[in-house]
Amino acid sequence: MKKPTKFVLAGRNKKWTGKAVNPPVYHASTILHDNVEGLKQAIKNIPNNSMFYGRRGTDTHFAFRQAMVELEGGHGCLVYPSGMAAINAALMTFLQSGDHLLMGDTVYEPTRKLCDHILKKMGIETTYYDPLIGSDVEKLIKKNTKVIFTESPGSVTMEIQDIPAISKVAHKHDVMVMIDNTYGNLVNFDPYAHGVDLSVQSATKYIVGHSDAMLGTVTTTEKYWKKLFHQSYLMGYTAGPDDVDRAMRGIRTIRPRLKQHENSALEIAKWLKEENLVDLVLHPAMKDCPGHNIWKRDFKGSNGLFSFTFKRGHEKALIAFLDNLKLFKMGYSWGGFESLAMSFYDLKNERTLDNWDNYGSLVRLHVGLEDTEDLIDDLKQGFEHYRNAL
Ligand SMILES: Cc1ncc(COP(=O)(O)O)c(C=O)c1O
Repeated sequence: MKKPTKFVLAGRNKKWTGKAVNPPVYHASTILHDNVEGLKQAIKNIPNNSMFYGRRGTDTHFAFRQAMVELEGGHGCLVYPSGMAAINAALMTFLQSGDHLLMGDTVYEPTRKLCDHILKKMGIETTYYDPLIGSDVEKLIKKNTKVIFTESPGSVTMEIQDIPAISKVAHKHDVMVMIDNTYGNLVNFDPYAHGVDLSVQSATKYIVGHSDAMLGTVTTTEKYWKKLFHQSYLMGYTAGPDDVDRAMRGIRTIRPRLKQHENSALEIAKWLKEENLVDLVLHPAMKDCPGHNIWKRDFKGSNGLFSFTFKRGHEKALIAFLDNLKLFKMGYSWGGFESLAMSFYDLKNERTLDNWDNYGSLVRLHVGLEDTEDLIDDLKQGFEHYRNAL
């Protein structure tokens, strides 16, 4: 079966959908069991995705989780109330006091804070590594290293990691490799074909795709599945059925949406490259982006997210640029249908290995589904405000 067909069929088992195309949205806490024998059977069937108690999931969740496994790979999938909760669950499940974690230096900032504050307090040590280090990460592996966490491209500065090289050396030392695959999602990066053991996604982004729900997912291989399944239940993780339903709906249209985001973002990135005020265009499909050749080798495409830097980093001018954009609105997150612009002033505080002084003012864009001419016109008038404020 070809990819587009898979995205239409994924998770549509009659066991969950009945006669309808989509599974019903179950709002359930208590699930009733007919008799003692029925209850015993239900307990036995917990690992087989059958309804037992609301926190374990309902048919709404099971259908979505199955769709995720069919499309992302791995042995099983669980859902979490946000991407950040999914990252937390993954790290908490596979690390304990006395363990060492290797974390890419360009990781999503709250993941870094989780390591620096909560994991540290629990006696888990984090070393940040250069995301472009590839197989040299082996030199940083210690006796107590249990997990190498990757995120590719890196948050905001978009470095592409050599995941196969990292996985190869990690597995030599029986170290688990995790990825935050939110950028690659279900379409553009296949984590299991590149040696990853566990993949986290903020489904809040392109899977939901409409900026109207928070959701996280974790898929993992058979080796790690039971532990994740057991501990996530004990940690109380679940997600609301309406949000899961929105994610399921998002899966059906993610491929054509992403294609449009990709085409529009590439057009705008190329246009930005010609703008005098712009220095670097950090788009994985363009040469300026660190690790671009690895992106060409490992990724199937890009999406609407990329960053650029101003040649001259004048804060006042940057504020004038951002404040005057009309279509690129300012707000965290990305992956919805709308365009966003965000500047990151304190990158230095979000990195350990590089002071990022060479980057000037950086703006991250998420290119939405608006007309590209309208978006370019918006940026043009933003640049005029930047020039006038210099
Ligand atoms: C790369 C990445 N991972 C994880 C998250 C966290 O996801 P959520 O906002 O669903 O908690 C984000 C959110 O912006 C993100 O950009």
